[in-house]
Amino acid sequence: MTEARKPFIPIARVELSDAEIEAAAAVLRSGRLVQGPQTEAFERRFAEVVGAKHAIATSSGTAALHVAYMALLEPGSDVLVPTFSHISTASMVHFAGCRPVLCDIDPRTFTLDLDDAERRLTPNTRAIVGVHLFGNACAIDEVLKFARAHGLRVVWDAAQAHGTRYRGRDVGSFPDLVCYSFYPTKNLFVGEGGMITTNDDELAERCRLLRSHGQTRKYEHPVLGFNYRLTEVEAAIGLKQLERLDERVRRRRENAAFLTERLSQLDGIQTPYVPEGVEHSYHQYSILVDPETLGRTRDELARALHEQGVGTGVHYPRPIHKQPAFERLLGEQHLPVSERVAERILSLPVHPALTRDDLERICTAVERAVHLRA
Ligand SMILES: Cc1ncc(COP(=O)(O)O)c(C=O)c1O
Repeated sequence: MTEARKPFIPIARVELSDAEIEAAAAVLRSGRLVQGPQTEAFERRFAEVVGAKHAIATSSGTAALHVAYMALLEPGSDVLVPTFSHISTASMVHFAGCRPVLCDIDPRTFTLDLDDAERRLTPNTRAIVGVHLFGNACAIDEVLKFARAHGLRVVWDAAQAHGTRYRGRDVGSFPDLVCYSFYPTKNLFVGEGGMITTNDDELAERCRLLRSHGQTRKYEHPVLGFNYRLTEVEAAIGLKQLERLDERVRRRRENAAFLTERLSQLDGIQTPYVPEGVEHSYHQYSILVDPETLGRTRDELARALHEQGVGTGVHYPRPIHKQPAFERLLGEQHLPVSERVAERILSLPVHPALTRDDLERICTAVERAVHLRA
């Protein structure tokens, strides 16, 4: 096949296995559609896989964050949140009645910059949020130490980090609360869905109550809550998909290693940086494009790749503090590292369905696009 006729390589590919489809169909046939044995089994198995005591399934990653913040925080608290993340990391702080204090990021890992966070502490700061962005891990030990020093609770946004490990442990096993998403492009996906993991019995109970109308028994509501329950169909898919999570993450790591070996040779391209002790799970493989060295911008590079049949993504084109909704809430702010990264970042395909030929084509397309201008 000539290059021109080869199929387009998408940035993500969502494929359920036959076993997952069969598991979902069996639930539909059973008529037990919500909060039943599939959800319980998925929670139990998920907790085992990440090495946490409890797992609480929710209807989305956004719902998981909302519940986690409400379980930990009194309204009116300030919460340190990296500005370079999905909007929900910060918007759910707002909907928990608290104020997100947006912080800048480290230019190499794209995760929270603790020095910047320290400068933004207020007498009202009660929590800090670490986002394991793209499947890289935050400096967990440093964040926990910082939290202890300043009396803060910790929420981890692991929506993109199923399978990420830090110093030999899964990121889902760290205190206080860890939130996952199972949106279709994620390393583990069910449709819409989420999970909270924790080792704290009391917090787990509070999360369970908040997830389901604060209900202890039918029509008994000692606290107020939401309907953030996962469906049984999604739980059945998730339970099955856990069986192939390791394999899918292993393939992502192999694909990333292939890309890094070739692309790190190119001036003007920064390949993902993985700190020592971190096993990245590559939800995204995101490079930084230096327009001065390359003679072309990130968007021009993306267009050149598209023309060669390679899909790309931009995560994220705007940091949270530059979103109009947050500018209205918090006023105008300047967080220079995040703003620079937002202009330069570009995600390349890394998903497990890529073939060796796809990987070759991605690298060749980047090399051509870079050399054309260099
Ligand atoms: C870092 C991060 N946090 C939170 C979320 C929200 O998850 P969901 O889409 O399942 O609500 C996402 C999803 O894209 C995410 O990437």
